[in-house]
Amino acid sequence: MTLRSKDFGTPARSDAASVSVTIDGHTISVPAGTSVMRAAAQAGIMIPKLCATDHLEAFGSCRLCLVEISGRKGTPASCTTPVAEGMSVCTNNPRLAALRKGVMELYISDHPLDCLTCPANGDCELQDMAGAVGLRQVRYGFAGDNHLAEAKDTSNPYFQYDPAKCIVCSRCVRACAEVQGTFALNVAGRGFESRIKPGAAPDFMGSECVSCGACVQACPTATLIEKSVVRLGQPEHAVETTCAYCGVGCSLRAEMQGDTVVRMVPSKQGGANAGHSCVKGRFAWGYASHKDRQLQPMIRDQITDPWRVVEWDEAIAHTARRFREVQEKHGPRAIGGITSSRCTNEEIYAVQKMIRAGFGNNNVDTCARVCHSPTGYGLKQTYGTSAGTQDFKSVDKADVIIVMGANPTAGHPVFASRLKRRVRQGAKLVVIDPRAIDLVKSPHVSADYHLQLQPGTNVAMVNALAHVVVTEGLVKTDFVAQRCDPANFRQWADFVAQDRHSPEALENVTGVPAVLVRQAARLYATGGNAAIYYGLGVTEHSQGSTTVMGIANLAMATGNVGRDGVGVNPLRGQNNVQGSCDMGSFPHEFSGYREVKDDAVRALFEVVWGRELDAEPGLRIPNMFDQALHGQYKGMFVHGEDIAQSDPNTNHVTAALEALDFLVVQDLFLNETAAYAHVFLPGTSFLEKDGTFTNAERRINRVRPAMAPRTGWHEWQVAAAIATAMGYPMHWQSGADIMAEIARVTPSFKGVSFDRLDKVGSLQWPVTDQAPDGTPIMHVDGFVRGKGNFVLTEFVPTTEQTSRFFPLILTTGRILSQYNVGAQTRRTDNVAWHPEDVLEIHPHDAELRGIACGDMVSLASRMGATSLRAEITERVPQGVVYTTFHHPVTGANVVTTDNSDWATNCPEYKVTAVQVSIANAVHTLVAE
Ligand code: SF4
Ligand code: SF4
Ligand code: SF4
Ligand code: FES
Repeated sequence: MTLRSKDFGTPARSDAASVSVTIDGHTISVPAGTSVMRAAAQAGIMIPKLCATDHLEAFGSCRLCLVEISGRKGTPASCTTPVAEGMSVCTNNPRLAALRKGVMELYISDHPLDCLTCPANGDCELQDMAGAVGLRQVRYGFAGDNHLAEAKDTSNPYFQYDPAKCIVCSRCVRACAEVQGTFALNVAGRGFESRIKPGAAPDFMGSECVSCGACVQACPTATLIEKSVVRLGQPEHAVETTCAYCGVGCSLRAEMQGDTVVRMVPSKQGGANAGHSCVKGRFAWGYASHKDRQLQPMIRDQITDPWRVVEWDEAIAHTARRFREVQEKHGPRAIGGITSSRCTNEEIYAVQKMIRAGFGNNNVDTCARVCHSPTGYGLKQTYGTSAGTQDFKSVDKADVIIVMGANPTAGHPVFASRLKRRVRQGAKLVVIDPRAIDLVKSPHVSADYHLQLQPGTNVAMVNALAHVVVTEGLVKTDFVAQRCDPANFRQWADFVAQDRHSPEALENVTGVPAVLVRQAARLYATGGNAAIYYGLGVTEHSQGSTTVMGIANLAMATGNVGRDGVGVNPLRGQNNVQGSCDMGSFPHEFSGYREVKDDAVRALFEVVWGRELDAEPGLRIPNMFDQALHGQYKGMFVHGEDIAQSDPNTNHVTAALEALDFLVVQDLFLNETAAYAHVFLPGTSFLEKDGTFTNAERRINRVRPAMAPRTGWHEWQVAAAIATAMGYPMHWQSGADIMAEIARVTPSFKGVSFDRLDKVGSLQWPVTDQAPDGTPIMHVDGFVRGKGNFVLTEFVPTTEQTSRFFPLILTTGRILSQYNVGAQTRRTDNVAWHPEDVLEIHPHDAELRGIACGDMVSLASRMGATSLRAEITERVPQGVVYTTFHHPVTGANVVTTDNSDWATNCPEYKVTAVQVSIANAVHTLVAE
C-alpha cells in the first residue's frame, strides 16, 4: 500500500443537500458545508496548504491556500470558505502564485536549511509546498531574527519536539484538542514570538500529554517527529493491520523498512478509530523484538529441570504423545486448554477445534471467563445475542451517556476521545464508579452526575435507577408494548417498584445520595438518545451477570435500544475478547454461541470436522483448577495467557498448575505460568500474524503480516500439527482457509472472507444473507431472541465483607500506558509512565495508618498479602483502596479471592476486603 494517503485538507461533510461549484472549469457537486479546498481536492485539484489537514477543522492561519472567487473581493482562504451554489473558483493564476511564493519565502527565511539531514526529508509538507509553489529564492535572506538555535524537547520516549522547525501552524494544538481531547498544548506568545508549549509544564513528559501521537501525526514538518524515524529514516512500504492491545481494535499502518518497523501510524480508514490511536498501539510495539522473546520450542520432564531447546517436530511429537499418555492413564476428559483473546480468530478457532475434535472433549475455556463472560450471558438472556448493540460512532448521536464500571480514558482511550468530543458538543454524562475516574473531571469535560457507589453494589444501583423510571412514569410504553415480553415486563416493573428498591431505601447500601440517583435516572429516561457504556467494573463481581441484565432491562424500559445513539455497550478488554467468545472458546458453545448439547448443531460440526463430538459441556477455568487439585484434570494447553498472574487467588492457581502431569504454554515470553510448564512453544506477535481480530463493536478487522513468523510457524499451524500428531488430522493452507471454514460453520460469519475484508476494510457481524454488509447496530426491528426479556435482578450482597481485620475494600483497574499483566507494555518504553503498580488510598485512611505518599505498604486480605507503594489521593473514597495489576512483582492477585459471578464464574476482582499497613520489608521494584 502507498505510504501517504490523500489529504483533502478539511473534514468531509455529510449534509444531505448537495451544492454545485465550478473550480478551474470543472463542475463538481459536494455536500453543503464542504470547503472550497476539499471540493477542489475531490475534483483532483490540490490547492497548496500548510495549516489545513482533513482530520482537523480548518483554521485559516497560513494563507497559502488563497483562491479567487468570481464576484467576491480579495483572495479568501479556500480551507475556511465553504462552497456555495453556483460558485466559480480559480485556484491558480499569476497573482495567486505570487502571493503563495511570498508566504513561502517568509516561512523559509526562518527555517533551518538542513533538508538533506532532516529526518522528515521525503515526508515534509513544507518541502512539498516549496516545490508546489515553485519557490526559487528567499528575498529576505536568512540572516534576520530566527528560531534556529532553540533547544529540542526530547523528554518523551517516543517523539521529539524541535522548535527550530516549527511553522506555528497549530495543527498539533488542534489535534490534541479536537482529536485527542487532552488540551495539553497551546500557542504561547504572539507573532514572531509564538511558540508551541505543553501547557505550563517545562516539557512534554512533565505535561498533561498522554503520548497519543496525534500531534506528531498532524505536524507537517519534522518539528514533532517519532524518534524511531529520526533513528531509522523514512519507511519504504506499509502494511495495514490491527492493534493487538485493547478491544477498540484500531486500524494501524505498520510503516516498514524491510522487516523492520519504523513507525506505527493510525489508519484514517480505520472503522473503529478513524485515524486516531493511543500510546500503546501507536508506540508500544517494541516488545515484538525484545530480547526476552522466545523463538524456539523447549521441553523438560520436570518443572524443576532446565529447559532443553528442541526443533518444532520434536516439540509437537512430544506434546501429542504426552497428552495421549495422560488421557490413557486418567481418561479422555483429563486434558483441556485455554484459548487466548490476544490471538486471531483463526488461531483461536484452531485451538478450540484441536481440543474438541483432537482431544475429544469440550474442556476449552478462555480468558473472557475472567472478564466479560457475564456480558455474554446477560445480553443473551435479555436480547438474544452475546455482544454489544452499537458501533463506536453511535456515541456521536448520544444525548445522555452513562459510563458504569469502566475507565475509558485508560482502558479504551481512542473511544474515550470520541466520547469526550460528544460531551464537549453538549451530551450529558453520568459516571457510576467508586473511583473519580478522569471523565468525572478533565479539561472541558465534567460529569453531570458522579454516582460514587460502594464497590459491590451495582445491582442495588441499577435497581434504584429502574425504580425511578417505573415509579415516576418514565417507561417508554410504546417500545415495551411492541418489542418486549409483556408478562416479564409487568413482573419486572412490579419488582423494581417495590419500596425496598427506591434510591432512598438503598442509600445506605450504595452510599449514593438518593437525590442524585433520582436526577440521573430522570436524565437517562428523558434526555433523548441515551447510551450505556460499561466495563469490568460491572462484570467482575459476584453479581456481574445480574448487573448486565439490569442494564439491559433499563435500556429496554426506556426504549434505548435499536437505533443510533443508544444501546448497551460493553467495552471489551483485550483486543480479541469478542472474537474468542465468538469462535467457540466457551466449554458449552461452538462458534456462534451454539450449544454443544444441541444435537443438530453438533451434527453440523461432526459433518464438517469428520468426527464424533462430545455432547457434554466441558470444564470452566475455575473447575479446571479445582479438578487439577482433586487429581482428575491432569493435562493442559495454555494459549497466550498468563493465568498464574492474571487469574484470582494466585496461590490456588499455582497449586493447581503444580498438580498437573503435563502443562504446555504457548506465548511470546517465558511468563509466570511457564514456570509450571513442561513444554514451551513460542508464539507469534501481531506483526507476524495473518488473520482477523473482532473488536468490542463486533467489527472483524484484518491482521496482516508485516513480516514472516519469527518462530517459523504460525500459531494455527502448531495447533493443527498437535491435533494431527494425536491422530486427528487438521490441515489448512492459510489463515484465509480457516476463515472460510469459520464462515461455513458459523451463521453470523456467513459472508466473511479475507478477500471481502480486503475489499471493504472491515465487517461487523452478523454478516448474513439478510445483512450482507454486516450489522453496525443490532436489534433494530426486533430483538434477536424475539421479544425483549426483562429479568428480575435481586440484589444479593457479596459474601466478601469488611471486618475489623480487613476494614477496607480493594478494587482494581488499569492504567493507560500499561496493558493487562504488562507482558508486552513492560517490555517497551511505556514503563516511563508506570514503572510500578501503586496503591491509591484516601488521605483519611492513610492518616489513620500513619502512611505517607510513596511509603511501601503491606496489602493483606483473607487470601494472601503483598506490598506496594502508597499514593494518597481523593480519587478513591474513604474505605476504598485501588490498584492495578500490570507488574508481576506486585502480585495483586495474591490478595483477590475465589468468589465469582453466580452465572459464569467470572471472578470478583473488584471487591476484596483488605487491610493496609506500613510494610516492614521494603523491596525494590525494577522495570524490565
Ligand atoms: S509543532 Fe508542527 S504542527 Fe505544531 S505548530 Fe509547529 S509545525 Fe505546526
Ligand atoms: S501526544 Fe497526544 S496528548 Fe500529547 S500533546 Fe500530542 S496530541 Fe496531545
Ligand atoms: S490500545 Fe486500544 S485504543 Fe490504543 S491504539 Fe490499540 S486498539 Fe486503539
Ligand atoms: S491551509 Fe488554508 S490558511 Fe492554511
